[in-house]
Amino acid sequence: MDMEINDKEFGLFQRLIYNKSGINLTSSKKELLKSRLMKRLREKSLSSFKEYYQYITEEDTTGEELVSMLDCISTNLTEFFRESAHFNFLSESVLPVLLENKRKNREKKIRIWCAGCSTGEEPYSISMILSDCIEQPLEWDIKILATDLSTRVLKKASQGTYAKDRLRGIPNQMLNTYFERGVHNLKDCYQIKDFLKNLIVFRRLNLTDEIFPFKGQFDFIFCRNVMIYFDKQTQTELISKFYKHLALYGYLFIGHSESLAGTETRFRYVRPTIYQK
Ligand SMILES: C[S@@+](CC[C@H](N)C(=O)[O-])C[C@H]1O[C@@H](n2cnc3c(N)ncnc32)[C@H](O)[C@@H]1O
Repeated sequence: MDMEINDKEFGLFQRLIYNKSGINLTSSKKELLKSRLMKRLREKSLSSFKEYYQYITEEDTTGEELVSMLDCISTNLTEFFRESAHFNFLSESVLPVLLENKRKNREKKIRIWCAGCSTGEEPYSISMILSDCIEQPLEWDIKILATDLSTRVLKKASQGTYAKDRLRGIPNQMLNTYFERGVHNLKDCYQIKDFLKNLIVFRRLNLTDEIFPFKGQFDFIFCRNVMIYFDKQTQTELISKFYKHLALYGYLFIGHSESLAGTETRFRYVRPTIYQK
């Protein structure tokens, strides 16, 4: 079964998606939208995009279908230690100073936010670096908040189970320390060990929400390869919220094709894709 989506219908979805997620789909993404939403139409036994739009906006009072639709739209490409220079900078420059300052202030709390964490490879990479750099990690109060808009990727992330071919970027020593072979039907997979998993809290959070529900501030924030889907205004608003939620001298890491250039911000440029409050 194939269905067409006309320009008017595409415009309706374009606006709905922008308003609910900040994701800015240009008209070149019409076919992409169509192919990604076909599955939802089939599942709901609907025969046109117009009916599907009505279903989401008028009939489904639970809001569940909106979440499922956004799940289909988001691009979740990620991998362990993606953009490895960030992880080197973290272990060689950020963590030594951060840990030293915390020790001096007799503080044990480390708070990290991984925004747009997709299927978990990014927060788990951060947690491996932390565990490698901190001598007695259990003596510290470490929490990595890992958030995403998509419930589908969050479910996968919190399972912490990965097929062998997803582990390519992980050095052997880390693989041995932080993973264990799956058993029974997961015997071709590797699982993140519990002590590492316990450092991370996975939550659904929409980065375009006006207010984020955080009390304290973060020592550093990773938000990589998410803002590329947003327009300039949404990016600028988000960057100022990141600034607010970072501790003084805290770092913001963004994706390789992203930049704060041309954005009004108080962040100090450290090196490409790394900024400091
Ligand atoms: C390409 S992935 C990036 C994953 C990871 N940060 C990395 O760089 O490997 C982009 C992620 O951003 C999430 N995303 C898109 N719009 C979002 C929004 N408004 N709020 C929160 N997450 C969003 C998507 O669901 C997706 O998982």
